[in-house]
Amino acid sequence: MSNAQTAVNDSELLDDEELSIVQDVARRYFGFDLAANKRTMLTRRMRLFAQSQGKSSAGQVVRTSLVEPTKEVLLELAVYLTTNHTFFHRESQHFERLIDVVIPEVRKQLGRGGELRLWCAAASTGQEPYELAMCLEEALGRAPQDWERAVLATDISDKVLEVARLGNYDGEQVATLPGGRLRDFMVQEKNSTFSVAPRIRNLVTFRRLNLMRATYPFRRPFQIVFCRNVMIYFSASVRREVLSKLAGALMPGGYLFIGRSESARGMEETLRFVEPGLYRKVGN
Ligand SMILES: C[S@@+](CC[C@H](N)C(=O)[O-])C[C@H]1O[C@@H](n2cnc3c(N)ncnc32)[C@H](O)[C@@H]1O
Repeated sequence: MSNAQTAVNDSELLDDEELSIVQDVARRYFGFDLAANKRTMLTRRMRLFAQSQGKSSAGQVVRTSLVEPTKEVLLELAVYLTTNHTFFHRESQHFERLIDVVIPEVRKQLGRGGELRLWCAAASTGQEPYELAMCLEEALGRAPQDWERAVLATDISDKVLEVARLGNYDGEQVATLPGGRLRDFMVQEKNSTFSVAPRIRNLVTFRRLNLMRATYPFRRPFQIVFCRNVMIYFSASVRREVLSKLAGALMPGGYLFIGRSESARGMEETLRFVEPGLYRKVGN
């Protein structure tokens, strides 16, 4: 990160053409709407990307690697263009709503027993999908019937998925997790880090998935989808396309959680507003 913070000289700044190459790639492959006034920030990120590609400068990597980017280049670029900030219990109302309203409602809908399938898209380093698995465990653990439960966690970035799969967090990272969940679902290791308990880990499967792909590869629908704090980076039209594909992955009457500052305005025919950040797919 220190490199990311160091000053950018004027001579190093991406020129207009380079800037528009980055914006174009970001829009086409990742759906990001990068503002041209972020020239300094984008130069910093491209400088780090240049180092990873063995190139000498931000401008050079843009001109040589991003004009016709290969799949490998795009995979690596995702790491430098995305923001992976996340933490346990982020937007805590959602976890409460999940347990108090959504899971009971889904159970009613599914009838006696069945499989509760939850997809956490844009899962970053794992805090969110692991806590969602903890919620399923709390809400279904003592269910009278044998309820199957599964969390699919996806992200575009292999780097964050590697961290997520490890399931190890330090004391500072688990500080926002409610005490009961820390006690019941995390194991304190000798080196004073915390690892996700096997019964929670076993519920979560991590896969790479770019929300920009034309269709999502699921044979069976989910009852619950979380896709929080990623669509803020998308243009309005990409956001609508992604929302429509997310709704397509839900069963009728299923629930979609997005960031509380995000909105599914314009999608009323498919997604009914429940409360900030929570929508329900029409029909059931
Ligand atoms: C700011 S984090 C949010 C993490 C978590 N959902 C939360 O709310 O705390 C955004 C995540 O979205 C992922 N992401 C960005 N663009 C994506 C795309 N096109 N497809 C899938 N994931 C993407 C990033 O790699 C990053 O991990």
